[in-house]
Amino acid sequence: MKEKIVVTGGTGYIGSHTAVELMNEGYEVILIDNLYNSEAVVADRIGQITGKTPQLEVFDLCRKKKVSSFFRENNDVAAIIHFAAYKAVGESVNKPLAYYRNNLVSLINLLGAMKKHGIPAMVFSSSCTVYGQPEKLPVTEDAPIQPAVSPYGNTKQIGEEIIRDTIAAHQGLKGISLRYFNPIGAHPSALIGELPRGVPENLVPFITQTAYGLRDELKVFGNDYNTPDGSCIRDYLHVVDLAKAHVTAVKRLLEGKNKNDYEIFNLGTGKGVSVLEAISSFERATGRKLQYTIAGRRAGDIEKIWADPSLANRELGWKTASSLDEAMKTAWEWEQYIRKKTEEQ
Ligand code: WQD
Repeated sequence: MKEKIVVTGGTGYIGSHTAVELMNEGYEVILIDNLYNSEAVVADRIGQITGKTPQLEVFDLCRKKKVSSFFRENNDVAAIIHFAAYKAVGESVNKPLAYYRNNLVSLINLLGAMKKHGIPAMVFSSSCTVYGQPEKLPVTEDAPIQPAVSPYGNTKQIGEEIIRDTIAAHQGLKGISLRYFNPIGAHPSALIGELPRGVPENLVPFITQTAYGLRDELKVFGNDYNTPDGSCIRDYLHVVDLAKAHVTAVKRLLEGKNKNDYEIFNLGTGKGVSVLEAISSFERATGRKLQYTIAGRRAGDIEKIWADPSLANRELGWKTASSLDEAMKTAWEWEQYIRKKTEEQ
């Protein structure tokens, strides 16, 4: 058994997929989650996929004493991958204090415990949202950070700065921030996937729920952008590819291959895809026709963004392997699995 890795937000969408890839690589994984936006049963499903159910600790990372006592009892943890956060952009505009408190206090508690109990490494779940609408595309890690357009995005920007400054002040701490573009899809087993609560904000879960008949119609938020087909462009990457990037990032830190104590990598395919192209991909991958209407633009949307992933390709030895159609197919298979599960209950 390799080193012990803590995955916060480990029963969540990206956390659960990362736990699977870590366990496939032989790491011992402990999930920490407060189940605010996920279910404990996900740990069992990770067990069905990997053959071993990871330990799940259910508590809130905003409880400083609890965080400290956990790491005092587990001071052999080699690294923390920190996913746990509120992440709904729209909701964050209406509940800024809840987002700043939850997303930043949990991070500060973790970093404090790392310092106190000698946990050396953190991989942080960041987001391309820090770039806003980049001037230059594809976007590289040294692109200017734009003023956040939402408290959610601001918690990612501030989170990166808190990590950078803490590492600079404390010998022995090291970290990597991974700036995700748009994660989509699900594990090929269809046992884990994205399960948004209520009406999905993100495109792909809205597509799959519409295809399943849970939503009456899919709205395309604007087709009057300055893009080839008028709809917004994003860089959609398969969540399993994204999960594998976390394993390479942890390995880099554990093997001391990091070139600086704090590093940042963009994680994307390097290819921009429009909303209409994403819809066509889903139809091609699943053979299902999607009903959609063209609606007005959504406030806060940027027009186009896609990654230049060459730094991660070179330094992490990581690149995406799955096609957009494959990602859409797994998203659809997951939707069918989880709806049947829900209907059986
Ligand atoms: C993608 C495109 C919409 C729904 C957000 C966060 C980002 C990251 C990923 C956490 C946009 C269009 C969407 C719909 C649509 N999350 N759309 N109809 O906004 O790029 O990124 O989620 O880290 O931080 O900002 O993703 O999936 O919401 O939207 O037309 O019903 O799909 O306008 O152009 P987004 P998204």
